[in-house]
Amino acid sequence: MIAKWFDERLDLKKFKEKFLNKAFPAHPTFLFGEIALFSFITLVITGIFLGLFYEPSTGQVSLFGAMVPAAYASVVKIDLLPMGVIIRRIHHWSAMIMIAAIIAHLARVYFTSAYRKPREINWLIGLSLLAVTLGAAFTGYLLPYSQFSVTATSIAYYIAKSVPWAGDWISRLLFNGEFPAHGTVPRFFFLHVMLIPIGLITLIGAHLLVLVKQKHTEPKANSKRKAAQGGRRLIGIPVWPEQSYISVSLFFFLLFVVVLMATYIPLNPIERYGPPSPVTPVMRPDWYFLPIYGFLKLIPGDLSFTLLGSKITPEAIGGVFFPGILALILVAIPFLDRASSPQNYIENPLHRPFMTSSGIAGAMLLFMTTVSGYIDVLHIAPASMAIYVVVVTAAAWVVSYLLLRLYSRAAKKGEHVKS
Ligand code: HEM
Repeated sequence: MIAKWFDERLDLKKFKEKFLNKAFPAHPTFLFGEIALFSFITLVITGIFLGLFYEPSTGQVSLFGAMVPAAYASVVKIDLLPMGVIIRRIHHWSAMIMIAAIIAHLARVYFTSAYRKPREINWLIGLSLLAVTLGAAFTGYLLPYSQFSVTATSIAYYIAKSVPWAGDWISRLLFNGEFPAHGTVPRFFFLHVMLIPIGLITLIGAHLLVLVKQKHTEPKANSKRKAAQGGRRLIGIPVWPEQSYISVSLFFFLLFVVVLMATYIPLNPIERYGPPSPVTPVMRPDWYFLPIYGFLKLIPGDLSFTLLGSKITPEAIGGVFFPGILALILVAIPFLDRASSPQNYIENPLHRPFMTSSGIAGAMLLFMTTVSGYIDVLHIAPASMAIYVVVVTAAAWVVSYLLLRLYSRAAKKGEHVKS
């Protein structure tokens, strides 16, 4: 009855035929993108709750008899609200899960070559999504204005200031003055709750529109079944009802996991860090910024030179050039590994020795630079660690390349090689 009422007005049957009958690949690795999407939804909902009580100001207020920044005091008060600390932890855990899911999703697209023609545009939109999500995490760091927030943000401030030729301008624009400035928290708050979410919603919308237009990639094994079914473009389960049931169940399962984590794992406890103080303790950023932090630790403090009139400092080498080169490589991938005609079938990573071993070496580089963030506790000298990073990354490439070549040659000859 209700469906009929809406159908008469909105022509829902046509919508169902056009969109809801579309096929979704029946493979769990295709769910990483959905996990990122659902985490983002959870972040928006919990973020609205936090925004109702948060105060974006560094003005001093009294909290339990001590004078502390208003932003810090407002977060302590959120923790004291009924369910407040749980909602703040759900927000934090969802951010971590979103970033992890994006990385897993990127790896799935990379290792199966789903970035090839015609999906280069979605690869680039995806990379922008990763960058903007990291921007959301970075601006969120500062908001509680604890000792941890201020220490972590000041590392980023010196990196922004070190950008060759434009560092002063970029750091003043981003931090609204010389950090710690009174204007930084309101600026980051605006970026975190307004500009970045709008950017993410726009990019996610564009990403999904391109996906609907181009359809998913699918395994080559589907080609025989497809020929038997009259050559339909994609084999999978229909968006409605099967995939929608899976997606809704996935959303609630994710919510269950995140609530469980928020209940038992105290994340970023503001009372442990306390408000900013003149003492700067050793603090490591969250895992997703650790490769940059670790790389910075490997660069000798006195390594600086002048390039075209601009001073290149260790911060610029570790914080600007290192992630900049990694980003350029990621951007270039679909244009280097080109396909002349549209590729709608995914490749088996075991049959692409060069690309797969390069991906493994890239992951190893990130892992080793993450370990470098702990050289102080591991008691390893920066120069020795730099050698380990190079040797282990190169070894990961060579060993995986040789093994994969052997495997793919054997597979081509029809021999069965057990992995
Ligand atoms: C907020 C971040 C992101 C969200 C919410 C998101 C969401 C999705 C979803 C739901 C799909 C369809 C399911 C799937 O193929 O796994 C998809 C497909 C795709 N995504 Fe993303 N994605 C994000 C980031 C990225 C990143 C970082 C990349 C790569 C750099 C990327 C590249 C692609 C490509 C190429 C496809 C089509 C894959 C195919 O046809 O097999 N996405 N995305």
